[in-house]
Amino acid sequence: MEQKTAALVGVGSIGITHFKHLLKRFDKIIVIDPKIDIIKKQLENYPGVDIEYKKSIYEISSGKSIALIVISNWGPDHFSVLKHFAVIGSLNFLIEKPLVDSLKEIRLIKKYQEKYNLKIYTHLPMLYAKFTQYLLDNSKIIGEPIAINVFGGAKCVATNGIHYIALANKLFKDKPEKVMAYLNSDPINPRNEKLKFYEGNASWFYPDKKQLNINFSNNSQVTLNLEILYKFSKATIHDNTFALTNINDSTRKSMLKPTSTKFPSDFLVETSAYESEFDLNETSKVYDLFDTNYSAKESEYGFSATECLITALISSKEQKLLKVPIQRFLKLKYFLRKWGIS
Ligand SMILES: NC(=O)c1ccc[n+]([C@@H]2O[C@H](COP(=O)([O-])OP(=O)(O)OC[C@H]3O[C@@H](n4cnc5c(N)ncnc54)[C@H](O)[C@@H]3O)[C@@H](O)[C@H]2O)c1
Repeated sequence: MEQKTAALVGVGSIGITHFKHLLKRFDKIIVIDPKIDIIKKQLENYPGVDIEYKKSIYEISSGKSIALIVISNWGPDHFSVLKHFAVIGSLNFLIEKPLVDSLKEIRLIKKYQEKYNLKIYTHLPMLYAKFTQYLLDNSKIIGEPIAINVFGGAKCVATNGIHYIALANKLFKDKPEKVMAYLNSDPINPRNEKLKFYEGNASWFYPDKKQLNINFSNNSQVTLNLEILYKFSKATIHDNTFALTNINDSTRKSMLKPTSTKFPSDFLVETSAYESEFDLNETSKVYDLFDTNYSAKESEYGFSATECLITALISSKEQKLLKVPIQRFLKLKYFLRKWGIS
């Protein structure tokens, strides 16, 4: 019987997580990473699987018998890996964020998806998947989210921010119409010095005056806070703890209209409705999708979040409020530019 084979490109902090999931599902894993000698030592303690080691994707010339390619190297190389394997006959891909590194690559990845009939899964919306589902399932009680605020120290508006764009698109059930950003990068990306690490402010404006605001500072090492504001509730995540708090009914009745200058400082959120700790990054969910039903919607979430992020980077360069998707008068240099996001 033919072995069920997967290829894993890039075995760093997230690659090892993917490796553990692949172990459970495949008989053979082709592991590809330029640091292959270090990786070999790392993986030698995992028994029961056939592992083939390669230093470069270009050592593989046929992809037809590889059932899944997991792309977990750095963002600027994600598209060239997909391109190589699509051309040599692979059909199924799981790509880490940010999926691509430029607007041009977004257009190309969609073209390749269509031309070669590729299934592209993205790991992007899986952060907070359970929590997001809880908020969506309980929307009749909690209401509609109004604003999502994410703030903290050096967390990078690209590498972490992109998860919150995906989260906002899911919770607001829409895409932003406009973005305004002021962002700067420092050479502190722990993955590689060539990769960017963005701090600053970015705001994406959605229909019905909903908004996503991200603010990170590279000068601080404090963790990230997430607040989702509803009319009478607030959902927060801090240190892997999710809390949902409500303003109680009697207080609601006595509250002033939001137009009053006294609102809302007099009425703090009062009752604790839900508090829980859980594994925030539900990688297994993306693998379950393979076993159940694939929907192109999953990759669309990823493409859309990446496009919103790159439009924010352009807004910052141009110092302009920009429409999403970006207008046709966009300068060619921004269409071609690679942003070093990962
Ligand atoms: N979804 C998530 O929650 C999540 C979490 C962490 C990282 N990520 C994403 O996963 C990707 C990898 O992040 P990481 O933290 O694992 O980085 P990392 O630096 O820990 O690992 C990257 C690995 O890729 C290897 N590599 C570099 N160039 C390569 C190439 N051309 N071919 C094959 N391998 C190559 C490196 O040697 C390294 O081992 C990034 O794009 C990051 O944004 C996603």
